[in-house]
Amino acid sequence: MYIGPYQLSNNLIVAPMAGVTDRPFRTLCKYFGAGHAVSEMMTSDKTLRMSKKSLYRANFDGELAPISAQIAGSDPRDLAEAARYQVANGAQIVDINMGCPAKKVCNKLAGSALLQDEDLVARILDAVVAAVDVPVTLKTRLGYLNGQENIMRVAKRAEEAGISALALHGRTREDMYLNTARYSLIKDVKEILNIPVIANGDIDSPEKAKYVLDYTGADAVMIGRAAQGRPWIFREIAHYLKTGEQLAAPSIAEVKEVLLGHLAELYEFYGEYSGCRISRKHIAWYTKGLRSSNEFRQNMYKVESTADQYKVVEAYFNNLLEHGQIMSDVQVEQVNLLETT
Ligand SMILES: Cc1cc2nc3c(=O)[nH]c(=O)nc-3n(C[C@H](O)[C@H](O)[C@H](O)COP(=O)(O)O)c2cc1C
Repeated sequence: MYIGPYQLSNNLIVAPMAGVTDRPFRTLCKYFGAGHAVSEMMTSDKTLRMSKKSLYRANFDGELAPISAQIAGSDPRDLAEAARYQVANGAQIVDINMGCPAKKVCNKLAGSALLQDEDLVARILDAVVAAVDVPVTLKTRLGYLNGQENIMRVAKRAEEAGISALALHGRTREDMYLNTARYSLIKDVKEILNIPVIANGDIDSPEKAKYVLDYTGADAVMIGRAAQGRPWIFREIAHYLKTGEQLAAPSIAEVKEVLLGHLAELYEFYGEYSGCRISRKHIAWYTKGLRSSNEFRQNMYKVESTADQYKVVEAYFNNLLEHGQIMSDVQVEQVNLLETT
């Protein structure tokens, strides 16, 4: 699939996730075969451009091309200016966020709240496309409210504005993350557009990826939460799409190696203080469902330095490797129950 002049190596894309898909994580997913990744959203508010958070998010150093920077905001001129800034900063694709359901974003009439005002949507699309000479993509939801899904009009208008690809999460803003993603509207959108359509929402296995691609006719699938603590999901999906066969799950030795490598990258990227804190959620995701992981995590959360954190993770995995890591299905179910209650 192409986004503008860029041919992606496959049709598996890492969803932008603020607080998760930083440069180390995007790089890891690309290593495991994701054909494309989009940055965390960056506000178009110029006054925040030099904040620590924005600087981390705008760091694309050494990242595999094409580099896609996501911008969020509500003012067409600010967004156009943010797009120009990101291109000067190294972005080869600019992605506009019209999907985020978070209160903090929607209260400022940004993210999915924009879907309430189609005229503003059109002005933003036109302004950003005119502002830069790189492809501009759009990520959005089905609409703002259930029963008032306006994605067919928004999608058509986006294509007319010159948007190069549309990523569509099969939920409305009202859905937040509840209910299940509705792929039927993604299919309808795909039928009326000529630009690539990327299907998103609840894709968490190779079979689901194949089902969504087949059912919607979408050009690509975008995977978010299922890649947390599981960046090899892209390898698994790519293998399944190619051969129809399931790849074996990674061994504990490989999970250990991937996680420790990921931690080293996070420490280098964020430094001592933030590196230790940001790594905690990743460690929690990687270890979910493993033997005694609940107890391990409670202790791990208390560790305050990167060196000690690295050591406790290493020791936990060494112990699994030495004493056997596999829990019975019943034990896994018990752990899952404990963790979700
Ligand atoms: C923690 C988190 C942060 C997210 N941040 C962003 C973001 O910065 N920009 C965006 O367009 N979507 C964001 N999303 C939405 C995802 O890109 C995606 O649309 C959503 O999670 C549905 O896909 P999934 O079911 O594969 O997770 C975020 C989702 C999560 C869970």
